[in-house]
Parts: sequence; C-alpha cells; structure tokens
Amino acid sequence: MQSASYSPGLEGVIAAETRISFLDTEQEEIVVRGYNLLELIRTVGYVDVVGLLLDEQLPDAQRRQQLERELCTAEVPQRVYEILALLPPAMHAMDRLRTAVSALAGFDPNANSADPEEERRKAPRLIGQIAQIVANLTRIAGGQPPIPFDPQRSFAENFLHTIVAREVSAAEVRAFDQALIAYSEHELPNSTFAARVVASTLADAYGALTAAVASLKGPLHGGANEAVMYMLLEAGSADALERLIREKLARKERIMGFGHRVYMRRMDPRAQLLKETLRELVAAKGTGAELLEMCERGEAVMHAEKGLYPNLDYYAAPVYYLLDIPIELYTPIFFAARSAGLLAHIVEQHAQNRLYRPRVVYTGPRGLRVGA
Ligand code: ACO
Repeated sequence: MQSASYSPGLEGVIAAETRISFLDTEQEEIVVRGYNLLELIRTVGYVDVVGLLLDEQLPDAQRRQQLERELCTAEVPQRVYEILALLPPAMHAMDRLRTAVSALAGFDPNANSADPEEERRKAPRLIGQIAQIVANLTRIAGGQPPIPFDPQRSFAENFLHTIVAREVSAAEVRAFDQALIAYSEHELPNSTFAARVVASTLADAYGALTAAVASLKGPLHGGANEAVMYMLLEAGSADALERLIREKLARKERIMGFGHRVYMRRMDPRAQLLKETLRELVAAKGTGAELLEMCERGEAVMHAEKGLYPNLDYYAAPVYYLLDIPIELYTPIFFAARSAGLLAHIVEQHAQNRLYRPRVVYTGPRGLRVGA
C-alpha cells in the first residue's frame, strides 16, 4: 500500500458517492438535493426539508401535512423516559441522549432491519421521537414528567414550546425553525461519516444514529455551540470578549465556533445566515443587542488575528440563548435537527452499500520475538 495516499484526518478524501448534499466551495453553495440550503432556510420550513431529504423532493401540501402529523404524534415509549430518569442528572446531556437513542431500538419490532425502504418509512417517527426526547431532557433530569408534543401546534413550535415551557412568538418559532434547517444536513461531517461507517456493516439505523450522537458530542464538532455560549457568558461584554480571545490565542487555545475543515479560510454560509437570524431576533424581541455586538467583535478579532471565520455554531449559540433554551440542549438540538440528514444517509448507505474498511500506515515496531 502506498503511504502517499494517506491523508491525516481523511482531509480532502472522497469517501462516499451521494445524492443528498454537497459543499460547493467554488460556487460558495451548500447543495441539498439540488437546492441551495440558504434558499431553503429563507423560504421553507424544517418539515419541508425533512420531506426533501427523505423523499428526494419537496413535499406537496398533503405530504407536508402528513409529515408534520407524524413528527408531532410520534410516541416516545414511557420506558425510554424511565431509563432517562434513572441516569445521573449531572451526566452530559449528549450522553443521556445517546442512551435514549440506543434504547429506542428496544421498542421497534423492526429495529434490526437494514432495509432502506423500511428505514425511510420509519424515519419521520424517529425524528419526532428524538425531538421529543431532546425537548424533555432537562425536564426529566430535574425529576419532572415529560410533556408530549401537541398535535395542534407545528413541529417547530412544539419543539421550542416544550423546551422553554412558555408560549412562544411567531418570530421565535421562525428563528428556531431556521436554525433547525441550518443544522439539518451538511454532506459528510464526522458524525455523518460515523453513521455511514456503522451502517456499512449492515447494522441498523439505531446503531448508526447512536454512533452519530457520540461523534457530535465532541467540542471540535457539535459540542462547539455550547462552548461558544459559555465563552460569551464568561466574557459578558464586547471589550471583555476581545481580551478573552486574545488571551486564549496567546495560550495557543482554540476559539470555539471558528474554523471549519471545509470552510477554513471563508465564512460558513450557514453562519452568515444565522447572523441575520440573530439580528432579526434581536429586533423582534427588543433585547440582546449587546450579545450581537459581542459576537461581531469576536468575529472581527478572530479575522484580524487568525484570518479565521465563524462557523454555524458561533451564531446558533446566541440565537438559542435569546430563545431561553438551556445551554445543555444546544448540542442535542443539533442532533435532533441533523437526524433527518443522518437518516437520509443511512438509507442511502443501505441502498448502495459497500463496507467501509480502510488501511493504515504502520509506524510501530516489527520483528519482535516473545521471550527474546
Ligand atoms: N481557534 C484557533 N485556531 C484555530 C481554530 C480555532 N477555532 N481552528 C483552526 N485553527 C488553527 C489551528 O490551530 C491550525 O493552526 P496551525 O496551522 O498554526 O497549527 C490551523 O488553524 C488549522 O487547524 P486544524 O485543526 O489543522 O484544521 P482542521 O481542519 O482539523 O480543524 C476544526 C477544523 C476542528 C473545526 C477547527 O477549526 C476547530 O477546532 N474549531 C473550533 C471548534 C469548532 O468550532 N467546531 C465546530 C465545527 S462546525 C460544526 O460542527 C457545525
């Protein structure tokens, strides 16, 4: 085997053929099933994007209604909530979520199937179950009973309303829905790759999704959004954030929410859009102007000091904060939104499967003898 083919971190390696999405860095476009993701965020809702990802076309009014109903009425087995209630409340929310996603398999009689059509059929139920689990994670850890989604409300409204336990405005629901779409699908990040690797053994969707939750928890990936919020709160003002970032950089620390394997020297288009969402939310709520100012200062400092740009997590964090979402749920919400894209990838992997089994460049010793 040629060591020349080795690319640390698989940087630049083409590892799958897909009809789902593509980051076109030349055209600066995130293509999802043929559409520009930014156009989808501006013009349709998350439920439409779920339909697009699963059916390969935007849903008509009837399909949309059916999907929304399936997402909002998916029942989470009571025993899954009981398992969650048994876990130590201090356990990381992504670890609790990982356990719940794994446990869901026990209540699906077809859990072991790797049949793509069966997986496509049950995908809306799974997305709905995951959203309800995420929306109730903090409540259950606090010893309170879960609140099921209300079929009279839209999916995005249900999701946000269940988390914050208060009536939510149309502007808040729209901002949340936009963040869900922004997170719904993004080609082959670590978590999607992890899900496809597991699925390629013909293991089922539950195993593949569980692997994806584990991957997404990491601060270099989905865990960055909560880290961003802790940094913004620690700073508390634009001047203090500038100081904090300079201190961290002097200590050679990474600043969460900046940089991206694919968009390292350009702005993540999703971050640009969520910045608009943040601006609109600040205007609609009449609060949060200091947070926006702080984020813009952080962006300017990082550009001047490192030539780095924000990624989606940088602007999603303050949006969630203004929506009163507990910080521990930021990364679980990322997973809930991404479950649509993940399931599309699992279906695709099973429909055109080839086992993932790469090789290594061996750098260890050879020729050792036992007892020598
Ligand atoms: N802060 C400071 N320096 C950074 C950052 C950062 N956030 N990101 C990259 N760099 C620097 C590295 O130190 C390195 O510098 P060097 O060449 O002088 O050593 C250079 O940029 C290249 O970085 P790598 O880590 O080699 O690039 P990689 O492609 O592996 O990194 C990653 C991508 C992991 C996302 C990185 O940018 C990072 O750690 N960002 C912070 C975590 C984060 O925000 N993750 C969210 C990703 S987006 C998402 O999941 C929605």
